[in-house]
Amino acid sequence: MIDASMSRPVYITTPIYYVNDRPHIGHAYTTMISDVVARGCRLQGRTVFFLTGTDEHGAKVEKSATARGVTPQALADVNAAEFQRVLRLFDISNDDFIRTTQPRHTRQVQAMIKALQARGAITLGTFSGWYDEGQEEYYTETRAKELDYKSPISGKSLIRASEENYYFRLSEFQGRLEEFFNANPDFIQPSGRFNEVRGRLREGLQDVPVTRTNFSWGIPFPDDKRHVIYVWIDALMNYASALGLAWPLARDLGVPSIEGCAGSTASGAGLESDDATLAQLYESRAHFWPAHTHVIGKEILWFHAVIWPAMLMALELPLPKRIHAHSFWIADGQKMSKSMGNFVDLETIDRFVAHYGLDAWRWYMATQGPLQAADADFRASHFHETYTADLVNLVGNCASRVGAMIAKYCGGTLPDDAERGGEWPIRCEKAIVQWREAMDAFDLNAAARAPLELLREIDAFIHHTEPFKLAKDPANLARVESILSQSARTIRVAGVLLAPFLPTKMDELATAFGGSALGPVHAAGSHCNEFDSVVSFHLPKVGVSIAKLALFPRIDIVASA
Ligand code: MSP
Repeated sequence: MIDASMSRPVYITTPIYYVNDRPHIGHAYTTMISDVVARGCRLQGRTVFFLTGTDEHGAKVEKSATARGVTPQALADVNAAEFQRVLRLFDISNDDFIRTTQPRHTRQVQAMIKALQARGAITLGTFSGWYDEGQEEYYTETRAKELDYKSPISGKSLIRASEENYYFRLSEFQGRLEEFFNANPDFIQPSGRFNEVRGRLREGLQDVPVTRTNFSWGIPFPDDKRHVIYVWIDALMNYASALGLAWPLARDLGVPSIEGCAGSTASGAGLESDDATLAQLYESRAHFWPAHTHVIGKEILWFHAVIWPAMLMALELPLPKRIHAHSFWIADGQKMSKSMGNFVDLETIDRFVAHYGLDAWRWYMATQGPLQAADADFRASHFHETYTADLVNLVGNCASRVGAMIAKYCGGTLPDDAERGGEWPIRCEKAIVQWREAMDAFDLNAAARAPLELLREIDAFIHHTEPFKLAKDPANLARVESILSQSARTIRVAGVLLAPFLPTKMDELATAFGGSALGPVHAAGSHCNEFDSVVSFHLPKVGVSIAKLALFPRIDIVASA
């Protein structure tokens, strides 16, 4: 049900992406589905803060940089710029882009670490365990055994490692986490993933090291410069630092600037400005916490579902409302890998976007992607079938057919409807409710199906009532006008609901069918003040011009590379 929580501000985040890699379908997917939800929320009038960014510290980045003969900061600068370029290319409506080398972030990380130390949640000790070098992650004995002492990601052997470290007393949060999970059965989606996390939690929690001494590319540990902060701890804190949640802490604990930590040349409007400006900015952002949804891939769920909530508990901050851990894209039935040459990289994405258009790419991502527990197979033939069935044959065809009939029989303007909409206002209402519930539940497939179903019903309505035959007898004019008015109005409503998925094409539809473009109201920093009226069946006035339009051309399948 749509309830009062719908008026709460919405904070949506993606993972921050490692800068040792170029953007590929995985990054594009997570970002794109988050964008659809962000736009869906803004359209309903909610204020949204949508965050993405880059994760720039750690041994992996240091190693990649060394291999390329550049400094880690230089590598981070190049790849962070590339991620930002791609966001613009895909018209992603993020409200901020955080880079973990920005002083606004590093200062707050140091402050949060200091606070955790002061509360006894971080202490010095010796740690040993099974270490995954690629993932920079330690596993418990039980987990390592389950994994056959091999990395679940790279397949390489885990190594036995031991270090003197500062560590986070995760074990002390076992009871509180269990209680929290019991009280919040929807905390992790899909539910199967939640069960996995709870199963692993029952095995017992071990303390986790939060510093490293074997490399230097990281945020220095406050007051002990031999250590740098473990990249995962630094990274998770981005969700809090972007809103400035630890800014007052940084001030109170006297963390004015980062000694020995490379400042960056990073972008971000006004975000490298003076403290007073930042303080003001952060005041306006704090109310977005707690997060509405952290959108992530399944492989990083443990960090988000267990370590992050425990850190927040220790910092006495409220916990996020939901974590959505989607599955993976595979390609042509196999795991994507660069060596197999089936990796859907930026060039491949560009080829699809150039051929089918950006909206079609978004549509495929949002409706055919691995949002739930199963992986999804990226296949050109499947892409093409989806494009043709949903966008050409249904959305495009329905709009062009009705537009053409209105041109032919009604002089190109929205006719009067003596039947006052018949059953269509109620059907539209039903679709709107389904769409809102599905959007709120992050069920993009169901959210897309609601307007598609309306369009299917309009197709059947036209097929059944045959206005093109009725129009041959002038005595039927009033009936023809009613049919076409009802169809055009319903198509426009469907177009509003499809706008978060197909922002460009649905603006074309809205303006052609007597409404106005919605793009500006679901763009970053904006929201719709009058959703109920925008989505009202009755919005367009009788007599407004209805244009003929060809939204999605019928085209051949994209050529392979
Ligand atoms: N830097 C960490 C995240 C820190 S968040 C506090 C990281 N970065 S990453 O660059 O490796 O990006 C991982 C994310 O990319 C995944 O969680 C997922 O969102 C996305 N994907 C990477 N490959 C993917 C697929 N093949 N399919 C779908 N998404 C996947 O981990």
